[in-house]
Amino acid sequence: MKRSASALLLLLAASTPAASAQQAGGDLNETQLLGRQILAQSCGVCHLPPSLNAKTYGPPLNKAAAAGSDEVMRVFILNGTDRMPAFKYYLKPAEIDAIIAYVRTVPVPAVRAANDPKKGETR
Ligand code: HEC
Repeated sequence: MKRSASALLLLLAASTPAASAQQAGGDLNETQLLGRQILAQSCGVCHLPPSLNAKTYGPPLNKAAAAGSDEVMRVFILNGTDRMPAFKYYLKPAEIDAIIAYVRTVPVPAVRAANDPKKGETR
């Protein structure tokens, strides 16, 4: 009895990493994986939190970024803003497409989702 219970625990423990690995990008296609890589290299310094819940210089990039519009996001990336560099000379159009494809797979965190409608009103 005790023996089979510990075998079950072992089985559960072994299956957990695989399940979370899938959530962390196992379902991404090649384009989205490329986008994630470019984003980490070119945009991470301002857009990815160095640790969980840390503040970033730029807004979080997820499904809801750039008002949910791929075209608006493309313009942001191409031209930048006063506080964000333009990437039109650094990234190829296909690389920008890949970034957008990846960002659209990133879910909106629960806390942000509650704040987003307000943010949308001011823009
Ligand atoms: C030097 C820091 C910096 C880098 C590098 C940077 N950004 Fe930004 N980004 C910002 C800031 C700051 C904003 C907010 C707009 C502003 O205040 O001008 C922003 C805004 C955005 C927005 C609009 C978000 C929204 O919902 O309003 C998108 C999309 C975006 N960035 C994508 C990218 C991508 C993709 C890259 C990499 C190719 C990148 N950024 C690199 C700083 C940066």
